[in-house]
Amino acid sequence: MGKLSALAVITLMSLFMFLWYQEYIQSVCVSTMLCSGYTQADEIGILHTQDTNIHHLNNSGTIFQNKSIQHLDNTSKTVPDNVNTKEHVSENYIQTRIIPRSETNTSGGMLKRIRPEEDPNKIQDLFKATHRPSPVRNITVPKMTSIEIEPTAGDKHIIFIETRCLLDESQSRSDPGLSLHKRQACVIESAAKMNPDYKVYLLYSCPISGRLDDSSEYVKTIFTYPNVKLWKLNIARHFSETPLEKWDFRAAIKSSEWPNEHSSDVLRFLTLWKYGGTYLDLDVVILKSLDKLGTDYVGVESQDSIASCVLSFASSGIGHAVAERCVDELLTNFRGNIWTHNGPGLITRVLLKMCHSQIVPQLSTSRCKGFRILSDKEFFPIPYQNWELFFNSSASDETMEIIKDSFGVHVWNKLSKNSEIIVGSNQPYSLMAARACPRMYSVAGHDF
Ligand SMILES: *[C@@H]1O[C@H](CO)[C@@H](O)[C@H](O)[C@H]1NC(C)=O
Ligand SMILES: *[C@@H]1O[C@H](CO)[C@@H](O)[C@H](O)[C@H]1NC(C)=O
Ligand SMILES: *[C@@H]1O[C@H](CO)[C@@H](O)[C@H](O)[C@H]1NC(C)=O
Ligand SMILES: *[C@@H]1O[C@H](CO)[C@@H](O)[C@H](O)[C@H]1NC(C)=O
Ligand SMILES: *[C@@H]1O[C@H](CO)[C@@H](O)[C@H](O)[C@H]1NC(C)=O
Ligand SMILES: *[C@@H]1O[C@H](CO)[C@@H](O)[C@H](O)[C@H]1NC(C)=O
Repeated sequence: MGKLSALAVITLMSLFMFLWYQEYIQSVCVSTMLCSGYTQADEIGILHTQDTNIHHLNNSGTIFQNKSIQHLDNTSKTVPDNVNTKEHVSENYIQTRIIPRSETNTSGGMLKRIRPEEDPNKIQDLFKATHRPSPVRNITVPKMTSIEIEPTAGDKHIIFIETRCLLDESQSRSDPGLSLHKRQACVIESAAKMNPDYKVYLLYSCPISGRLDDSSEYVKTIFTYPNVKLWKLNIARHFSETPLEKWDFRAAIKSSEWPNEHSSDVLRFLTLWKYGGTYLDLDVVILKSLDKLGTDYVGVESQDSIASCVLSFASSGIGHAVAERCVDELLTNFRGNIWTHNGPGLITRVLLKMCHSQIVPQLSTSRCKGFRILSDKEFFPIPYQNWELFFNSSASDETMEIIKDSFGVHVWNKLSKNSEIIVGSNQPYSLMAARACPRMYSVAGHDF
């Protein structure tokens, strides 16, 4: 592009931006350039654009046309260029942010931050009153002395287990405080946010160096949910007075070819035997309250397997009976040389036997005496073969449609962990996270 036409584009874009911002940021931005790159904003909702309609405005910004706006917790909507921007304000989506190029060094890089705001009526006030960012402020985290809280059997709770340091404390990362991946923090937040009436426990095996307050910002966001509880694992205590008390857990795990997976398998069944509740893997993003599901269920993850990453067993009745069988099965039939043997393999074997069935499709709630076998749509709407859909912006609408009625979505972290989630992009994972873990998302940075 010649210098002249570049200049013309820039001028036009500047004008466009100016008009856009004028509507939104009347009292704050005096010119487009003042607005571009500003970070002092409370942002609400996400603004999407089609990649092809993004225009780069020299090195300092990106400009948007054909905007589609995604409300937090709600639908998305495309906004034509000529729409009256005032209309948006009244509908509570507010502003775009133009981010400096350095933050968007991928070509389709977009922008936006979000700030969860519970009360839509406040949005305009907020917007007028302050342009401070800090999506989450003044996070207070529990004192070290109060973290060995264990669940009470019979309570409504969700349990996550992080076993990284179980056998080898040197596995703990050097960062101070609680150490989690951003995607794990997102999952914990999603469970806590969507289930405020459940306690959400993180059973955590690593030593905690320093104070929880020293954890990274995104980790601290999970403690802004009062129902999140940190539960430090104490192996001896955990196993005592259980059927596995005399079993040599350490030896079993040490000889396993998959010590992380297998220790997590053992702990999930044992923990549910002991406390009941719902166990979730740290890669199941929760999209809705699990209340409707009640207790006592598992999900089918494929034609021939029940999943072990979502398990709900009440602390008595049929749920506890299933848990009891699972723990027995561990005791008598643990194998360290087969990856799925002690997880999905185990729960599948136990249920086939208990429910007098030969194959997974025969399993049914009636055969299983009231213990429910959920279809794959509740937690596994995207089969593992299609995991890449979570990252594909081009197929976003279709993917979001597929998952829209699910309670949660298993994102197959083992396969997907190295694919990038761009904050603000149209990737299904990103859209899901914005909705399910808005606080983590708002501090996640460029990608996570
Ligand atoms: C981008 O353009 C604006 C005016 O349109 C100018 O003020 C600014 O210096 C430019 N930035 C760069 C990095 O070229
Ligand atoms: C915006 O989208 C409409 C409909 O998809 C299209 O006709 C129009 O050309 C687009 N405008 C720009 C500036 O890309
Ligand atoms: C979406 O928003 C509409 C009105 O704006 C509201 O009636 C509806 O309950 C919302 N849905 C969800 C899932 O929040
Ligand atoms: C640019 O992107 C690469 C790869 O995503 C990332 O490693 C790098 O830190 C980014 N640079 C800046 C300045 O954001
Ligand atoms: C939050 O922290 C800021 C600065 O650290 C302090 O001025 C403010 O009073 C705190 N607010 C609350 C509600 O604790
Ligand atoms: C993303 O989805 C589009 C549209 O369905 C498809 O053409 C493309 O191959 C997909 N890309 C990847 C990497 O799967």
